[in-house]
Amino acid sequence: MPVTVVPTVPLTLALAPLGGLVGLVLPRKMWGRLWALLLSLLTATAVPGPSLRRPSRELDATPRMTISYEELSGTRHFKGRAQNYSTLLLEEASARLLVGARGALFSLNAHNIGDGAHKEILWEASPEMQSKCHQKGKNNQTECFNHVRFLQRLNATHLYVCGTHAFQPLCAAIDSEAFTLPTSFEEGKEKCPYDPARGFTGLIIDGGLYTATRYEFRSIPDIRRSRHPHSLRTEEAPMHWLNDAEFVFSVLVRESTASAVGDDDKVYYFFTERAAEEGSGSFPQGRSSHRVARVARVCKGDLGGRKILQKKWTSFLKARLFCHIPQYETLRDVCSLDTDASARTHFYAAFTLTTQWKTLEASAICRYDLAEVQTVFTGPYMEYQDGARRWGRYEGGVPEPRPGSCITDSLRSRGYNSSQDLPSLVLDFVKLHPLMARPVLPTRGRPLLLKRSVRYTHLTGTPVTTPAGLSYDLLFLGTADGWIHKAVVLGSGMHIIEETQVFKEPQPVENLVISSMQHSLYVGAPSGVVQLPLSSCSRYRSCYDCILARDPFCGWNPSTLTCVVATTVASRAQGSRSVVIQDIERGNRGCEGNNSTGPPPPLKTRSVLRGDDVLLPCDQPSNLARALWLLNGSRGLSDGQDGYRVGVDGLLVTDTQPEHSGHYGCYAEENGLRTLLASYSLTVRRATPAPAPQAPALPGTQLAPDVKLLYVLAIAALGGLCLILASSLLYVACLRGGRRGRRRKYSLGRAGRAGGSAVQLQTVSGQCPGEEDDGDDGEGPGGMEAGCLQIIPGEGAPAPPPPPPPPPPAELTNGLVALPSRLRRMNGNSYVLLRQSNNGVPAGPCSFAEELSRILEKRKHTQLVEHLDESSV
Ligand SMILES: *[C@@H]1O[C@H](CO)[C@@H](O)[C@H](O)[C@H]1NC(C)=O
Ligand SMILES: *[C@@H]1O[C@H](CO)[C@@H](O)[C@H](O)[C@H]1NC(C)=O
Ligand SMILES: *[C@@H]1O[C@H](CO)[C@@H](O)[C@H](O)[C@H]1NC(C)=O
Ligand SMILES: *[C@@H]1O[C@H](CO)[C@@H](O)[C@H](O)[C@H]1NC(C)=O
Ligand SMILES: *[C@@H]1O[C@H](CO)[C@@H](O)[C@H](O)[C@H]1NC(C)=O
Repeated sequence: MPVTVVPTVPLTLALAPLGGLVGLVLPRKMWGRLWALLLSLLTATAVPGPSLRRPSRELDATPRMTISYEELSGTRHFKGRAQNYSTLLLEEASARLLVGARGALFSLNAHNIGDGAHKEILWEASPEMQSKCHQKGKNNQTECFNHVRFLQRLNATHLYVCGTHAFQPLCAAIDSEAFTLPTSFEEGKEKCPYDPARGFTGLIIDGGLYTATRYEFRSIPDIRRSRHPHSLRTEEAPMHWLNDAEFVFSVLVRESTASAVGDDDKVYYFFTERAAEEGSGSFPQGRSSHRVARVARVCKGDLGGRKILQKKWTSFLKARLFCHIPQYETLRDVCSLDTDASARTHFYAAFTLTTQWKTLEASAICRYDLAEVQTVFTGPYMEYQDGARRWGRYEGGVPEPRPGSCITDSLRSRGYNSSQDLPSLVLDFVKLHPLMARPVLPTRGRPLLLKRSVRYTHLTGTPVTTPAGLSYDLLFLGTADGWIHKAVVLGSGMHIIEETQVFKEPQPVENLVISSMQHSLYVGAPSGVVQLPLSSCSRYRSCYDCILARDPFCGWNPSTLTCVVATTVASRAQGSRSVVIQDIERGNRGCEGNNSTGPPPPLKTRSVLRGDDVLLPCDQPSNLARALWLLNGSRGLSDGQDGYRVGVDGLLVTDTQPEHSGHYGCYAEENGLRTLLASYSLTVRRATPAPAPQAPALPGTQLAPDVKLLYVLAIAALGGLCLILASSLLYVACLRGGRRGRRRKYSLGRAGRAGGSAVQLQTVSGQCPGEEDDGDDGEGPGGMEAGCLQIIPGEGAPAPPPPPPPPPPAELTNGLVALPSRLRRMNGNSYVLLRQSNNGVPAGPCSFAEELSRILEKRKHTQLVEHLDESSV
């Protein structure tokens, strides 16, 4: 399995405000020893096993920006009384977003889905229907409802909808203007699945309904055409054309429009099914449980056969779809781009890890060119060899006209006006050879992206043409826990511009629709629909930031000094050639000159006593940036040397000495560009601290130094043990990590640095246990729970149980109402100690920032701190 993560040790550090607690802090020497001990433990235990290093490292893109739910801006929400908003239909011309949910249909204003001016149709299964469904053994909490599964435009005046209707599917044509249910319904069992969770895909093409799912109570997979003079379906016997198929996507490709040979339009279907051809030497056909991804296609003009294959497709062919086998074979979703120009049509497909280990999560994205699919369908066939009882490549003669092909001009000229004119020999061949021998390979033969710890459930994409006239495919990938990854396809890989948490409660993204006219993305999920802007260029404040983002929608306008939406439309409107600066390809050129990094940050001053530890906070906004600290403008500080520890949150100076004084600049280094993020002036005062200014007596603070040392060592050993545990579970953790974090942090890893010596300080909040229990067996997250380090307050009370509850809340005093909730706003403070949350119970969030504000909240009541954060202003 391609796991390339660098161990990201969730270290969070405790702070003790400098002033009041000096006397309680341990002697510096002891600190030094503790650090050394901890570091040696870290380096000894956190080394990844050799199996974790596999070639696909460069495919595991880290989202550059992480935008949590709280940081979202410009979104709009819709939520009616229903749930399961899983069917979306965008009508650009009338600017309506039509939504099919459980028991309801909605017509929303696509400009603003949350404006309250929506129309609604209630369409529920009657209580009698529901109890009948329940009697048939179905779940009356989930299945015995009317889940709207199909919603498409039928003609100029009507929409066509189908619902599962408590396991008795119904369909109806509804007037889109009046938006009311008709008085009569149509039988839906030929068009709609019974089971709301069943894979389903459907299209209306020239008035005909093309649906693929598992129909009826028996759940028989089929591709059907109904509401058409020639209703068709797939063949059931003697050779199963479809085997336990689960459909995800279908698309019409108008191959007739530019065809020189009078080719027909085709409908392509994407699904997973049980592989008959795999391992069939050992398994009799049908017994194999191995599932594979497939693409199938039929011709739109197919009329079925006259005697053989009567009312059956005569043009059905299917082929295996390879992405990254054998790991990634579960197809989740497909989207198609450029379907109007069939020569350039291509597909993006999301796969997830095929494994019995439910707790392992990983996804892959592959791109397929239509030309490759077409080539496979004109290649050799497979055949079931009765003697050997296995599938093998068919080597015999192929009858004419070629079985499974559409009717073309040359066939018409030979008298084959339709599929009904095809000779029996050809149709008999079609019946037995639905499967092609060659698999469809992804573009460039490999995935564009392999992503750990993420399960993509849906994707959609759009080509974006930049002012310079280049076109990039922009993809939006929805995850099983309610995040959207926005990615641009660059040659053989993908750059994930940002990951956005669109739902507060983790829930699977069930549908994604792009509107270029509204510049919006609509996300359907169990709890509602969300509308997001396709780009938020104003988020990027400097030219460097704007081009590092590599968002094809965004460009830097040097005259207004803003990052703006840069589309051809915009530049044409301004009547001039592109003036915006973009560098999607490399993401680092064009900003040379002034003002490329924005205004410099204010200088903050810090003054500490010699021997103390001090933290200079510096949060990297980009997950791809590397922190660089310069002392007095030139000397680069390296981690682990001269008492410096470089973390993603800031710089820790331990055991400060007068020579640590000076000017510290924190830079973000990304893609060869360097931006100043924070600067500090640090003064280390020589004054030897007088013995503890009478600190309020806290439990455990009056211990003798040697007892303290004992405690400290015990904690260190405990921490070490837990780290061993954590790293031994790293393999699992790497795949699972970062699932529903409020804030995900990424490590650039040691591979990027030449022989980096120590583990970087990291704050990793994503894997924190606590609120979640998603129904997994729960044995997976345990590892991370054990590895979650927590901050404890700096009173030097090293007892293993959680810190005592904060004193009863007093009224807020001294202007600390607006306590910093982010690390980067913190003043320099002493670090005190790491402690492992070593009890099995959920330990709450271990995000540095959150933990910090909790501690500060607590501390402010103990009134040990008077000047918490002024010197930073
Ligand atoms: C589902 O069926 C159970 C058992 O018959 C019944 O107690 C429950 O009220 C039903 N729930 C709904 C929502 O109908
Ligand atoms: C659209 O279809 C509906 C239902 O079949 C039909 O009643 C209506 O007349 C059709 N409208 C047009 C414009 O064809
Ligand atoms: C409908 O939504 C609920 C949560 O609101 C979810 O548990 C269920 O799986 C959803 N059903 C379908 C068919 O998506
Ligand atoms: C095919 O169509 C042509 C012209 O439309 C007609 O002359 C010919 O007889 C048809 N052939 C068959 C086999 O129906
Ligand atoms: C940095 O500059 C300060 C004063 O400007 C000086 O005291 C200090 O020694 C310098 N530090 C180094 C490492 O050069």
